[in-house]
Amino acid sequence: MRVRAAPASVRLVPEPHGETPVWCYDGNVPGPEIRVRQGDRLRVVLDNALGEDTTIHWHGLRLPNAMDGVPDVTQPPVHPGETFAYEFDAVDAGTFWYHPHANSLEQVARGLYGVLVVEEREPALRVDRDVTWVLDDWRMTEDAALAGRFDNAHDMSHGGRLGNWATVNGSSPGEFAVRRGERIRLRLVNTANARVFGLEFQDHRPQVVALDGHPVAPHTPERGRVVLGPGMRADIVLDMTGEPGTKTPVVDAFYRNREYRLLDLAYASEPLRDEPPAWPVGLPRNPLPEPDLEGAFRHEMMFTGGAMGGAIMAEMGGSMGAVGPGSFWFVNGEAAPPGALEPIATLRRGQSCVIAMTNATAWHHPMHLHGHAFRVLSRNGKPTAHREWRDTVLLDPRERVEIAFVADNPGDWLFHCHVLGHQVSGMKDMIRVL
Ligand code: C2O
Ligand code: CU
Repeated sequence: MRVRAAPASVRLVPEPHGETPVWCYDGNVPGPEIRVRQGDRLRVVLDNALGEDTTIHWHGLRLPNAMDGVPDVTQPPVHPGETFAYEFDAVDAGTFWYHPHANSLEQVARGLYGVLVVEEREPALRVDRDVTWVLDDWRMTEDAALAGRFDNAHDMSHGGRLGNWATVNGSSPGEFAVRRGERIRLRLVNTANARVFGLEFQDHRPQVVALDGHPVAPHTPERGRVVLGPGMRADIVLDMTGEPGTKTPVVDAFYRNREYRLLDLAYASEPLRDEPPAWPVGLPRNPLPEPDLEGAFRHEMMFTGGAMGGAIMAEMGGSMGAVGPGSFWFVNGEAAPPGALEPIATLRRGQSCVIAMTNATAWHHPMHLHGHAFRVLSRNGKPTAHREWRDTVLLDPRERVEIAFVADNPGDWLFHCHVLGHQVSGMKDMIRVL
């Protein structure tokens, strides 16, 4: 298939507002949902009809380095009018997404992204409906245009480019039609530049079955809230247990005192069945290599910087380099240089690696590793309940998190914050696998 990155106008905000000029794939936000089966080979030709360079990064996919879409690291940038053919095998089943890795702060904020679903080899999870919700927030002007100044210092040194208009699959539908007794597999994807979503379903009990595409022991999340930092995904099984004819608000309650209703689950007057089905919940695991913690290479990372970071840094240790133009964030005292990166670690192929990260800042950071999935081992010294596999892990302010993975995929792989304004102002590193 082909996807074309180009400017377009789409209806993000209802009438009487006008359409919003965006950049997107194939004229839609989100771009086409690509579906393949695990084990299949995917071939997508990117056609660049933008006025600037672009690429496609396949977020979360374990693919050959040359297909990873990082300009000047894994491929030359795709210039305006040029094409690039991405081709790789889908080794893992799950919910993934794609977006540019060139000027991504602006290109993703303007609407360039889409979902890639890799279906399980055998239909693995019985549900009535398989539904994707792409969550985004936009910073809009009164005229329903995107507010400019993507790289302003205030956003970069604080929580990033937070928006003022939230969308689900590129619009604000207000309602999502359901029926009592229905079981839905809901694939949640956070494509926002900066916003962390924390979805609450009131008296409904979401069961998390996969995180960042990878199956996890089915469980109800803490306080019933499904938290997704930028770049992160969660597959949940949601049983529609409400009464016919009623509405249940789905609320994003992540930021204290800033809750808002994302949409309502609107129940039809006719139930599908009286009680939720008794079908088993759970997914077959992906073929991920198990890290050997004893013999692992260990790497420590301390994040400092950002607004209000001085006191936390003093309390937790760490240092900060010079605040150069556009550098606000530091990893072990250094901000990523604007040009070529040097690897922070060089690993032998097959070597296990443990990375311990300490967030000595006042902000959340979703840290994303390319080309691999890692287990989240511990938070603040406490083992995690599910040792979940992820490609992006959200660090709270002052939090210490340990992850582990097997470096089985040769190449240079970025490891960066997915708050895209943080990525361009220092929080970007690279790991080399020989
Ligand atoms: Cu989704 Cu390096 O990014
Ligand atoms: Cu960050």
